[in-house]
Amino acid sequence: MSTKTEKLSKVIALTNQKGGVSKTTTSINLAFGLSLRGYDVLLVDGDPQASALDWATVRDEAGIELDLTVIGVPKTNLAKEVAKLKANYDFVIIDGAGRQSELTRLAIVACDIAIVPNTTSPLDAWATKATLESINEIQSYRDFSSYFLLSGVKTKTKIFTEVKDWLAVTYPLPILDSVIELRTAYSRCLGEGLTIFEYKDDHGKKDKKAIDEVNALIDEILSRENIIKIEEAV
Ligand SMILES: Nc1ncnc2c1ncn2[C@@H]1O[C@H](COP(=O)(O)OP(=O)(O)OP(=O)(O)O)[C@@H](O)[C@H]1O
Ligand SMILES: [Mg+2]
Repeated sequence: MSTKTEKLSKVIALTNQKGGVSKTTTSINLAFGLSLRGYDVLLVDGDPQASALDWATVRDEAGIELDLTVIGVPKTNLAKEVAKLKANYDFVIIDGAGRQSELTRLAIVACDIAIVPNTTSPLDAWATKATLESINEIQSYRDFSSYFLLSGVKTKTKIFTEVKDWLAVTYPLPILDSVIELRTAYSRCLGEGLTIFEYKDDHGKKDKKAIDEVNALIDEILSRENIIKIEEAV
């Protein structure tokens, strides 16, 4: 595996046509978390809003190093570009477009693993239908994994359980056990060009629970996909 010659070349798309469900937030933290573990990571901004590119620009202007590559391909050649580039990386993370059905679809065409983030708003859960139809259509001729991720949620609330149960009975996608809670650190870190792994609050403290949950998400993806961990490979 990640001997620096042969790459894993796994493409993970954070995809949901519904806007504002944490595709960009998850993409950036997932990409950075994987790079911290020693994988070679490419983060592809596949959204004309270019939020991931904006984040990388803020970071660059603040003079903060970044050990992963960020590019923008919010165009109809998204799948082709990713297919060309993936041989050079262990992971390509695509931050999919919101509200753009064709670009949402192309991120799914390009991926080996589709992660569909959802909040616990019933409106978001209903609006996920179009994205799941794209996943189903593409899975009818090419096999790839797809999962729901509950993100930006409060796990202790009743609505969390209700929407989670509704998703489980309504759609065939497995729901990841890992959950990303609603935490201000997630919004604040990106604004500073940082990730959850680096961000410190006004008291100089990192949000350890948030870091743990992103690490748990990475562990779960690696384990469900049978991807050997770097520390196990060396
Ligand atoms: N776990 C979280 N806790 C708190 N706020 C969050 C969390 N995840 C995302 N957010 C906030 O929710 C908003 C939407 O997140 P984000 O931009 O990542 O969603 P998106 O799906 O990429 O949106 P779009 O479809 O517009 O691209 C942002 O303001 C972000 O800071
Ligand atoms: Mg986004």
